[in-house]
Amino acid sequence: MTVVSELHQDHVNLRKLLEILDKKILKLKEGSQPNISLMADVINYIATYAEGYHHPREDKLFAYFHGKNDQLDAVMKECEDAHVNLKGYAHALLETIDGVLHDAVVPMDDFIAKLETFVSNEKAHLDFEEAKVFSLMNETATNADWKKVEKQLPVEADPLFGEKRTEEYKSLYAELMRDINS
Ligand SMILES: [Fe+2]
Ligand SMILES: [Fe+2]
Repeated sequence: MTVVSELHQDHVNLRKLLEILDKKILKLKEGSQPNISLMADVINYIATYAEGYHHPREDKLFAYFHGKNDQLDAVMKECEDAHVNLKGYAHALLETIDGVLHDAVVPMDDFIAKLETFVSNEKAHLDFEEAKVFSLMNETATNADWKKVEKQLPVEADPLFGEKRTEEYKSLYAELMRDINS
């Protein structure tokens, strides 16, 4: 697997969680009671995974390609800024969820609006990278570039971390599916 195909697979997996969250938002709008601790686990997983693994790898990949193509530079800069902003949104949402878990009065409309913003921002970011960044990067990069990139960013350098996050992902996904179908 190349680093770009690994990042793409991450996007596919994250999108699956985000799409179930979208369904969950519709149910919440219809008045169903949220399973707040499950919401917290999912948002926390997405934030931890993005900040701890996925975005740092992308940032390193972008750093390698900086200065090779102006158009690519511009879209990569947009993504680097988005990584900072997404972290802010995720933590603001986690704080709101923490408030709900600790009996703070949070109007349901506010909670749903924050959740909706989080999900749509995350999805927009994945789509932007897939449509604007990876395609332009593929056009710009030479075989020699990919060889250098693969040396700098070995795939699954930490198999234990990889396995742990795969297990966590699977169990969260299954729990979300159960919740949405209950
Ligand atoms: Fe990203
Ligand atoms: Fe990404």
